[in-house]
Amino acid sequence: MYDGEIFNYKTSESLFEASAEYILRYCQKAVAEKGVFYLAISGGKTPDLLFAELIKEKDSLPLDKIQLFWVDERCVPPDSPESNYGRAKKGLLQNFLLPKSNIHRIKAEESDGELSYIEDLKKLVPLNKSGFPVFDLVVLGVGPDGHTASIFPEKLGLLPEDKVVLRVPPPEIVSPKLQRITLSLETINAAKKKIFIITGSEKAELLDKIKNGQGNHFPASKVTQAKWFVC
Ligand code: 6PG
Repeated sequence: MYDGEIFNYKTSESLFEASAEYILRYCQKAVAEKGVFYLAISGGKTPDLLFAELIKEKDSLPLDKIQLFWVDERCVPPDSPESNYGRAKKGLLQNFLLPKSNIHRIKAEESDGELSYIEDLKKLVPLNKSGFPVFDLVVLGVGPDGHTASIFPEKLGLLPEDKVVLRVPPPEIVSPKLQRITLSLETINAAKKKIFIITGSEKAELLDKIKNGQGNHFPASKVTQAKWFVC
């Protein structure tokens, strides 16, 4: 059953301002409490506008305390235009000057990329009792088919539930049709906080379906206790 919380904004500017502000405040709080902030970001277009807002706040962000990870990655080299890391590098990373040692990309171009990412996560992020890494915050998007991360509807219910990271085949409905490496739904749900950032009427309709129980086949509906920033 849907258990999220929705924040509606009239304009995309106010949506990205508010979500950047939320991340900034939560990051500052986590760092004040425990000296580190474990953040995982998604790919796609949406993070670009979020990064543009976060960059305005960069003097207030404790950059050296942020450990940055990815929710998912397409199986291409990091300099490919389809690479989620490559895309973030152009915006977030080159403008933020995050220490290199705090940036943990998924080496999805390597044949054992999912295994090395699991190793990194288990070494660098605190684990819960079931052995899943506990991120402070996971930032998610939603695709037109209701996917989130690289969990696609055609594979929902067919993926192993005991894995931290999965290698998944190319999506059948959306592009780019590339093999991906992704955090599992179980890892996403183990995070302390999960936020979705969605814009446009098509995505708002997906959220309506999730809310009224008609979207149970959407992977995004399986993320528990998420905050949805919507415009
Ligand atoms: C990816 C993603 C994916 C993305 C959604 C939304 O690598 O494709 O991580 O889950 O977040 O497809 O993408 P947009 O922000 O481009 O709409």
